[in-house]
Amino acid sequence: MTIHYDEERRIFHVQAKGTSYVMAVSSEGTLLHLYWGQEIQDAGALLGLLQIHRGSPTGPVQPPNADVGTWPHEFPAFGMGDHRSPAYVVQRFDGSIASCLTYVGHRIVPGKPKLPGLPATYVESDEEAETLEIELLDPVLRLRVILRYTAFAQHSAIARSATFINNSDESFQLQRALSASIDMAGADYAFLQLSGAWIRERFVELRQLVPGEQSVYSRSGMSGHKHNPFIALVAPRADEEHGDVYGFSLVYSGNFLAKAEVEPMRQSVRVQIGIHPDDFSWLLEPGASFQSPEAVLVYSDRGIGEMSRTYHRLYRTRLARGRYRDEPRPVLVNNWEATYFNFDADKLVEIAKAGSELGVELFVLDDGWFGKRDSDNCSLGDWYPDPRKLPGGLADVAKRVEACGMQFGIWMEPEMVSPDSDLYRQHPDWCLHVAERPRSERRNQLTLDLSRPDVCDFIVEAVSNVLHSAPIRYVKWDMNRPMTEVGSATLPPERQRETAHRYMLGLYDVLERITTAFPDVLFESCASGGGRFDPGMLYYMPQTWTSDNTDAVSRLKIQYGTSIVYPASSMGAHVSAVPNHQMHRLTPLSFRGHVAMSGNFGYELDLSRFTAEERELAKQQVAAYKSIRSLVQFGDFYRLLSPFEGNETAWMFVSAQQDEAYMAYFRVFPDPLQPVRRLRLRGLRESTYYRIEETGEVYLGELLMRVGMNMPLMDGDYQSVTMRLRKV
Ligand code: DGJ
Repeated sequence: MTIHYDEERRIFHVQAKGTSYVMAVSSEGTLLHLYWGQEIQDAGALLGLLQIHRGSPTGPVQPPNADVGTWPHEFPAFGMGDHRSPAYVVQRFDGSIASCLTYVGHRIVPGKPKLPGLPATYVESDEEAETLEIELLDPVLRLRVILRYTAFAQHSAIARSATFINNSDESFQLQRALSASIDMAGADYAFLQLSGAWIRERFVELRQLVPGEQSVYSRSGMSGHKHNPFIALVAPRADEEHGDVYGFSLVYSGNFLAKAEVEPMRQSVRVQIGIHPDDFSWLLEPGASFQSPEAVLVYSDRGIGEMSRTYHRLYRTRLARGRYRDEPRPVLVNNWEATYFNFDADKLVEIAKAGSELGVELFVLDDGWFGKRDSDNCSLGDWYPDPRKLPGGLADVAKRVEACGMQFGIWMEPEMVSPDSDLYRQHPDWCLHVAERPRSERRNQLTLDLSRPDVCDFIVEAVSNVLHSAPIRYVKWDMNRPMTEVGSATLPPERQRETAHRYMLGLYDVLERITTAFPDVLFESCASGGGRFDPGMLYYMPQTWTSDNTDAVSRLKIQYGTSIVYPASSMGAHVSAVPNHQMHRLTPLSFRGHVAMSGNFGYELDLSRFTAEERELAKQQVAAYKSIRSLVQFGDFYRLLSPFEGNETAWMFVSAQQDEAYMAYFRVFPDPLQPVRRLRLRGLRESTYYRIEETGEVYLGELLMRVGMNMPLMDGDYQSVTMRLRKV
C-alpha cells in the first residue's frame, strides 16, 4: 500500500493491496481519472493512453475546453461542457448552477481520518492504511472540495468521500453531493445489483450495460428493500472465480443513488454513488462544510467471489465495531413467530426453558411487551412494560429467563411513534410531517423526526431507561416503515430538504450514544426484515435481521444474494415453524437448520411444542452450530452453486489458516434420473490433506478443488448435506 504523487507529471498513484488507482492533473488544473484495476507499476505511462479519448489532443494533459465532455473526470461538475451526470451541483445566490473545479493542492496522511458524524471504515493503527486528500476549488463560487481516498494495506479496497466547504461570504445550496464518481474507459461491463422487495430481499440481478443511464436507488428514507446501496461492474467473461470486478458500496442507510452512465459510443462509463439528490439539498453558509458519506470501492481480479470476500473481511473487521465484532454471536430463540403479540411472562419463560434444554443461549422478547400493544396499531413510543403481560416488569421476566441459564434480549422500534400513544398525544409535532398534508401512516405508525436534537435525546433516554431496567444483553432495533411527508417542524423553509439527511445524522448520533453507553449489549438492526441491510447500520450493529421471510427455500436466495457484499456474521438466520408463515411451505427441520446455520443461528418458533424427535434433532443442530460457529462467523466464504441458476445451492466457509472448512449443499427438488452431483470445493490448500469428518475419507485439497467430490444420493424434496473438513 502506498500513495505516490509524481510532481513532474502531476500523477497520483493510489495503491491498495493488489490494486492501482491513478489520477492526473491536467495543465488547466482539471483532475482526471486515468485508471483503476489490477496493480501496475508505471502509472506515468497511462498518460499516453488518454489520447484514445475522441477529440483529445496529443498532449494528453492539455484537454481543450471544447472536449471537456469526453474527458475522464474524477469529480465532474455541471454546466461547463461536460453534459454527463455531475458528482455535485451547487446553486449560487444568483440562481446559476455552472461550476468547475481545479486542483489546488493535496496532502498524504498515514492511517485514516474519521468522518465526523458518519459511519465509515476505520483502521486500528496507521500502518493499516494511507489517505490522500486532494483539494479542488471553484474560484468563482469559492467552493472548496476535498476528495479523500484511503488505500488499505490488507484489502483491495479504496474508501472515498468528499467534503464541500463554502469559503465565500455568500450562502449557497448544495443540491447534489455524491460520494464518488469515476469515469472508466470502455463500457463492456455487466451491471450487478441486489434488488427485491419485502420478504424477497437482495436478489442477484445482472444486466449488460447499454448506452444511457442505468441505476438503482432509494427515495424511501431508508436504504430499503428494493435495492441495496451497492453495484458492481463485471468485466466480460468474469464470473464467480475469474476476471475483473469493480464493487461500489455506500456506507449509508438513507436515500441513495448508484448509477452507471454509458457514453453513446460506449467509449466510457461513468459510475457514481452517493446520497440520492431527489430529496436532498443543503444550505452551505459562509464557512460551513458538508461531509458526504463514504463509498467503498473494491477491485477483484478473481471474480465476484473475491470481491465479496474483500467486502466481508473489511466490513467484519474494520466497519463493525465493539465487543461482538470478534466474539461468537449467541444462538438465540425469538418469540415473534412463536406468539406474535399473544404472550405472557409464563409463556415466554416456557419457550426460554425449552431453548435452554437445547443449548440455546439467548432468549429474545420481540414486539408487544410495552404500552398496551396487542396488535400493531398502538403504543410505539410508550416504552414501559405492559403490566397485563409482564406483571413483574422486564426485570422479573429477565430474571426468570436467566434462571433457565439463558441471556435475555429485547425488541424495540425507537424511531417510530403510534398515533395512538401517550408520546404522540404529548408531542404531535415530533413526527416527520409537512404542513397542510395528511400524515400518511404505514403499519399504523409515523416516523419520529430524528432531524430534531430533542427527539434524538428522547430516544436515547427511552432506550437507556429500558436497558437499565433489566439485565438486557441484546437489542433488536427495528424500523418498520418507509418515510413519507419528509419535513421537519423545526427547520426553516430553505432547509426543509435537509430533513432526510439530517434524520440519518440524528439516527447515527443516537446509535453512537447508545452503543457507546451499553458496550456489552449485542445490537441487531432490522427494518421489516432486511429493509436497512447496509454498511451504515453495520458500523453500529454488527448484525442485521436478514429478512422477514424465514422459509428455508426462500432464504437460500436471500442469504446468497446478501453474501455478495455482507459477511455471514452480519446475517440473522432462524429456523421457523412449518408450514412456514410467509410461504406456507413444509420443509424438514434438518433442511431449515442447515440453511440457518450459515448465518447467526437461532430459532423463531415455540420450542416448547417440539416433539421428542424434533427436540433431539434441534439439540444436535445447536451443538453442530456451536462447533462450526467460528468458521461461519469469522471464516472466508466461497459460493459454489447459485440458487439463481438452478435447483441446487452450495457454499462453504474456510478458516483463515485454511486448515478447517464447512460445506453446505442444498437441493430443493429431485430431478428424475439426476446424475450424481460432483461438487468442486474452493478456498482450500492444494497440498494439504483434509479429512471429511462425516465419512472419514481423506483427500488432497487439490483433488477436492480440481476434481471435486460426489454429493450423496438423496431422495425427495428439500434435501441438504453438510460436511466438515479438517486438515490431517
Ligand atoms: C418486523 C420484524 O422484521 C419482525 O421480525 C418482527 O420483529 C416484527 N417487525 C415485529 O413487529
